[in-house]
Amino acid sequence: MAAAAGLALLALLAAAGAERSRKVSMEYNPGWNSSSVNLLHVRAVGPEDSLHYVWSSIGAPSVLLVATRSPNSALRVNWTQLLSPSPAGAIWIDPPDSVLYSTAVVFTKLFEFSEAKPSEELFYPTYDLSEFSWDSLNHTLNHTALTAELRGVPATDPGGAFANGSLAFRVTAYESSGRAVPLPSLQHTPGSSQLQFIVAGVAPRGSGSRFRLQLATLEPPGAARHLRARSSIDDEYTPSVFQVLSLQWKAADTAVCLSACLSIPQVLSLQAEPPNSSSPLSFLQWKAAAYGSPSPRREDGIGCRAGGLHVASGTPPGTPPVLRAFFGDSLATSTASVLNVTFGGEEGHVYQERRYLSWSVLLGFGEPPRDTFSPLVISITAVALGTPLAMLLLGSCLLLLAQRRRYSEYEPIN
Ligand SMILES: *[C@@H]1O[C@H](CO)[C@@H](O)[C@H](O)[C@H]1NC(C)=O
Ligand SMILES: *[C@@H]1O[C@H](CO)[C@@H](O)[C@H](O)[C@H]1NC(C)=O
Ligand SMILES: *[C@@H]1O[C@H](CO)[C@@H](O)[C@H](O)[C@H]1NC(C)=O
Repeated sequence: MAAAAGLALLALLAAAGAERSRKVSMEYNPGWNSSSVNLLHVRAVGPEDSLHYVWSSIGAPSVLLVATRSPNSALRVNWTQLLSPSPAGAIWIDPPDSVLYSTAVVFTKLFEFSEAKPSEELFYPTYDLSEFSWDSLNHTLNHTALTAELRGVPATDPGGAFANGSLAFRVTAYESSGRAVPLPSLQHTPGSSQLQFIVAGVAPRGSGSRFRLQLATLEPPGAARHLRARSSIDDEYTPSVFQVLSLQWKAADTAVCLSACLSIPQVLSLQAEPPNSSSPLSFLQWKAAAYGSPSPRREDGIGCRAGGLHVASGTPPGTPPVLRAFFGDSLATSTASVLNVTFGGEEGHVYQERRYLSWSVLLGFGEPPRDTFSPLVISITAVALGTPLAMLLLGSCLLLLAQRRRYSEYEPIN
């Protein structure tokens, strides 16, 4: 009976959480017959709009996010221009006036350090991700599972740390809402994409080495970003991880960003949440956990913490050509935010032993997914509180049934 009450609750939650799904497709180097560079176009089409993600390893690994008001909007690339020294204007969306909002994330550097003395960090030479050489992503592309993987090693590796290792960026795109199976079991929304950052087999340069990933975001004028940490429900999905972090872009001020803000309700209507001016335009969301295994269990957890956001205006040095190609001159007036995510606090030794680190982050438009109570938590609550309720429900069901019966005895007469 408690289980019945739990199921009823579950059905209610499922109905509340249901969102329209999207048709997602992936295309490698659209319009270019070479695999010397990597550009992956992920397109998520809804009934009235489409979302574009452009992943690339031309320069530092990056992703361009564009929301458009048309289900037919298309990505265009002028490859000769993109691969030239002046790429501005080489990537655009057709029709251009369908673009509602755009932003970008660049994965710039990987720091490695060890703690020489308490609170004294000793840094090894930084891995600059724009100086990596990346394998062709084409053969990792799975059009059914909607996954692809970018794998690379430093172009020069004098210390040989990458002799048996590599960095990887694994992308998974989603057509509907749900939850990834492996830990940290991030939730996703239709049209969002998960990125898994993986350090595998790279030899640490010190005992108890830790890694710190630096990422930069670019946002158009008029968008404001917020980094927020929220407590999450401790359930069977990510046991003992209590923190969800999200980096969200919101419209800064409805008065100053007219052209951007006019279109915000449309971007927001992509989501189930009612539109309001403080809803986010796009987000990155992750749990405060990385894992030291390709098939992570709870005990493989590696703590992860985010530093503060460092905000600067103007084009940051090392902006990848793909972003210069899309944003062109508007880069000069945009804002860049730099964020560090550090893996391993007390557990610096986990990487030392496992030589594996995986961190997952969800990227998307609109409102980031929120934890709801899991079936396990609901069942436990149902067992604890639900038995009297279930009896009541069952009682009223029987009563209704009895009434139906009585009426049905009369029905044949009509
Ligand atoms: C691509 O860009 C080059 C260099 O700017 C230009 O000469 C060429 O006409 C462009 N091609 C197309 C199809 O627009
Ligand atoms: C790479 O693997 C080989 C064979 O397992 C091993 O001998 C070598 O020490 C490893 N190199 C590094 C840098 O880990
Ligand atoms: C990120 O970490 C590096 C290395 O510790 C540091 O130099 C840089 O200032 C940090 N950036 C931010 C935004 O915290």
